[in-house]
Amino acid sequence: MGRMSLSALAPQRPRILSGMQPTSDSLHLGNYLGALVNWVGLQEEFDAFYFVADLHSLTVPTDPADITRRTRVTAAQFIAGGVDPTTSAVFCQSHVPEHAELGWILACQTAMGEMNRMTQFKDKTAKGHNANVGLFTYPVLMAGDIIMYDAAYVPVGEDQRQHLEITRDLAERFNQRFGETFVVPEPYILKESGAKIMDLQDPTAKMSKSESSDKGVIWLRDDPAVTAKKIRSAVTDTEAEVRYDPETKPGVSNLLVIHSVLSGTRVEELERRFSGQGYGALKGEVAEVVTEALAPFKARMDQLLGDPAELDRYLAFGAERAGEVARETMRRTRCAVGLLTAARSAASALG
Ligand code: AMP
Ligand code: TRP
Repeated sequence: MGRMSLSALAPQRPRILSGMQPTSDSLHLGNYLGALVNWVGLQEEFDAFYFVADLHSLTVPTDPADITRRTRVTAAQFIAGGVDPTTSAVFCQSHVPEHAELGWILACQTAMGEMNRMTQFKDKTAKGHNANVGLFTYPVLMAGDIIMYDAAYVPVGEDQRQHLEITRDLAERFNQRFGETFVVPEPYILKESGAKIMDLQDPTAKMSKSESSDKGVIWLRDDPAVTAKKIRSAVTDTEAEVRYDPETKPGVSNLLVIHSVLSGTRVEELERRFSGQGYGALKGEVAEVVTEALAPFKARMDQLLGDPAELDRYLAFGAERAGEVARETMRRTRCAVGLLTAARSAASALG
């Protein structure tokens, strides 16, 4: 920690920002291969800000102790996955209180109709969620997260595309109405096709934090023996041919993708290698590849979760860097909308 200094990290590179909600006790292999690995790859080229979207997770009623625990685990897993907290800013959204303030100011620039159109809200309420106002206005908070850091790019999955569009609309509208204040971000939709990981028990559905059965999800915190067992019990098909064909053989194709992404072996090469062998051989090797790849991840995660002080220091450092940018954005924003600048010191004003 001694070598970290704010001035040394002034952004020379374009800024990127992304976040994940602390909505489960562990990230899963889909989060890892579909998002985290990309985040890690981008941190060289970009000035990266990665945060745990804890304020967002309040939109669904959750036990406070769960939120606290999951926030820690999510941050630890970012770092265990390879995000370097001494070069990228890793922080909790709520540690930078400006997020809520910018969310409010942007909400006052947002039409009801714009929020009514958001498909994620419609999907969630259709599933019977008893929605609160926070869930309804969540895309505005997310727009603020992005705008706050002058992010040029926002690496997210396809499901977040609509939220990025509203972010661009809000930034452009604000600039038109109040003068150039915000950077308008470009979407950077992560190509999931290479690493879209499917549920092991229902390979036609995405591996997901909430909707999958526990047996179908490889949690990054699972013991290696549990991981191997889940892979060996993965649903395949009644043929015996190891062939990549997501339409008719989604289970086998998913295993091939997982192997290929983690081992760096091309899918065609794997098809050749396993030709004439049963699914047992493929599953055995996928289990090996996954548990081996996750071993260093698990070791680093256990270390971070075993030493909360180290994790807290990283998060404090990240929040300090984020806070510096956020305070500057809020200064511009408050000034643009006409909020009176607060006097620096009441004592000096009163003489
Ligand atoms: P979520 O689990 O929905 O909070 O998503 C966090 C990040 O992981 C997002 O960037 C998603 O696009 C990505 N992600 C989630 N599930 C998968 C999956 N099964 N395959 C690939 N990427 C995923
Ligand atoms: N909405 C994102 C998700 O559910 C998380 C998120 C919140 C986010 N704010 C963000 C992602 C800003 C990127 C940028 O996955």
